[in-house]
Amino acid sequence: SVKIPPAHLLLDWYDRHRRVLPWRSGPGQSADPYHVWLSEIMLQQTTVKAVGPYYHRFLEKFPTVQDLASAERDAVLAAWAGLGYYSRARNLHACAQQVVALGGFPHTVEGLLTLPGIGAYTAAAVAAIAFGVPVVPVDGNVERITARLFAIEAPLPAARKTLAQLGAQLNEGKAAQARPSDFAQALFDLGASLCAPRSPACGVCPWQGHCAGQKTGLAPSLPRRTPK
Ligand code: ADE
Repeated sequence: SVKIPPAHLLLDWYDRHRRVLPWRSGPGQSADPYHVWLSEIMLQQTTVKAVGPYYHRFLEKFPTVQDLASAERDAVLAAWAGLGYYSRARNLHACAQQVVALGGFPHTVEGLLTLPGIGAYTAAAVAAIAFGVPVVPVDGNVERITARLFAIEAPLPAARKTLAQLGAQLNEGKAAQARPSDFAQALFDLGASLCAPRSPACGVCPWQGHCAGQKTGLAPSLPRRTPK
């Protein structure tokens, strides 16, 4: 078993440094599942910075999931133009139609996983951020944080399963369980700033002293990757 770093240190840091992002609610507010889902699908292929204008334009055209469901497919594809991966836009449209048929987004990971275009990461992100389900969405950021915290030297992609299992345990403890949405987004923000791929800022990290990657000096070189 591994030693999970104290969640309250990350959450205190997040309370001081959280990014203001269009799909984020204010501190302590719940987020709209349609907004969270849309942003997560867009963020799978595009940076936070680039997503902003697309996200706003898309919501102007389709303010609610009902509007998206009843739109013509070509109108959805046109609003997606520039983001690429048009299978995502087709899945988005199909997903909206299923959500409307269901009477709203499912509130559980299992329920969300039944929807088109929603895999393990997106299901966990929507469940945690929109519905406060205590799960950790493991994306590339969380994989990197996890590899460093536990100094996992096994390379990706083989280490992916190990990192996903360890990453999923990061929310053990009362502090994280009490704030699932903030905890998930705090991990994204840590991965996008202090625990960035290059030159991690271990000296100012809220988890310094709890990170094997920092202690061993391996952090900047993790996660390793098998050369192509
Ligand atoms: N990357 C993926 N989801 C994100 C989110 N909700 N906030 C910031 N970065 C993200």
